[in-house]
Amino acid sequence: MRILVLGSGAREHAIVTALLREGAGRDGSAASATPPHHIVAAPGNAGLAHDVETVQLDATNGKVVTEYALENDIELVVIGPEAPLVAGVADELRAHSIPVFGPGKRAAALEGSKTFAKRIMDEARVPTGRAVRTGNLAEATVAIDEFGAPYVVKADGLAAGKGVLVTAERDAALEHATYWLQHGSVLVEEFLDGQEVSLFLISDGHTVLPLSPAQDFKRLLDGDAGPNTGGMGAYSPLPWLADRFGSEADFVAEVIETIALPTVRQLAKDGTPFIGLLYAGLILTEQGIRVIEFNARFGDPETQVVLPRLTSPLSDLLLAAATGSLSQHAAPTFSTDVAVTVVLASEGYPESPQTGRALTGLDEALAVPGVSIAHAATARLDDTLVATGGRVLSVVGAGADFTEARARAYEALGRIGLEGGQYRRDIAAEVAE
Ligand code: AMP
Ligand code: GLY
Repeated sequence: MRILVLGSGAREHAIVTALLREGAGRDGSAASATPPHHIVAAPGNAGLAHDVETVQLDATNGKVVTEYALENDIELVVIGPEAPLVAGVADELRAHSIPVFGPGKRAAALEGSKTFAKRIMDEARVPTGRAVRTGNLAEATVAIDEFGAPYVVKADGLAAGKGVLVTAERDAALEHATYWLQHGSVLVEEFLDGQEVSLFLISDGHTVLPLSPAQDFKRLLDGDAGPNTGGMGAYSPLPWLADRFGSEADFVAEVIETIALPTVRQLAKDGTPFIGLLYAGLILTEQGIRVIEFNARFGDPETQVVLPRLTSPLSDLLLAAATGSLSQHAAPTFSTDVAVTVVLASEGYPESPQTGRALTGLDEALAVPGVSIAHAATARLDDTLVATGGRVLSVVGAGADFTEARARAYEALGRIGLEGGQYRRDIAAEVAE
């Protein structure tokens, strides 16, 4: 298949790696009956450029993307990040009958507008935290005092991971509300306590098929200290789900029944079918499963641990979603191997990442068994690989158990050089023996 993947992060690199792997044997050898896909990534990064063709185009411009897809006989477009979704790139492609994995602008508001997401959840009776939308500081102050500490204050629109503050300090909550009120409305939400789960659901607008659950580490520092980030690491699967729900499958079935299907049905009823990846960000509270947020795309860095474990072909699944035939598709299957990813970030991330520094030792890191590297903010300048942004690489360790997978990921990280580079040391520590 000729596939265009939009985006330039580690998520997109992981998607491309999974698509390329379909053409290989289980041991990674090239011999197989499946012909390899022709993949183009736009705009991509140094890792993507190493593996597939890349093209520099504005991925948020629907006309540009559609023109490229038509001229290059693209059979499937996979939209990685939220920006092109919210900009309506999928709508433009669909208007030209190009199969696209990713919701249209209106359904993508499930991620782009927390108010919209809350309304849909309300209508579909999906369990989520109580929230009050406020348009000025006086209202926000009342809501903050009503809910009490710990305070949860969220920007309504897209905020690149910076919109949410969870704090015990009333002053900090008010300050966050004040700042984001300048950019639109703000949600004050009930604090939810419990383990977090990211569950990815493939949707064709009516049917949903689940991928394996993962957990993301959102805070910058060990022990979940420091500011929220785009995500500093992840692991999959979640062995502790079985303790509480009997099995991972029982947990997933409950989420599909009480959260994913009601949401997808509500969106379809409203004339905004959700075709793409429904990312359910969940908290397992004492009272039950609650949605903290929906995203309209694969999560980063969770994708880097979920897709390496996928044993059925990704392209078939994404195409079935894009063409509305998911009900005839078998559920995706996963290896019993586990995966851990640790994100290497630049000095100064998330506030003001230092860029342009050399990255070394990747070949040595890749020599560690079970290790793969998904590139995020990387570029090649002459012969040097350099970091170009905050989250630079996702180093992934796979193994028979978490002790092995972690050891591999951290051994690989130790071999990579980046001046001032930072990463957490405790990713998946609690599930390793
Ligand atoms: P979000 O950007 O909505 O995923 O929020 C970022 C992080 O903030 C989540 O992963 C949670 O750790 C935390 N968070 C968001 N909403 C709540 C809530 N209502 N209660 C507790 N923690 C929350
Ligand atoms: N890992 C969080 C996100 O992708 O939004």
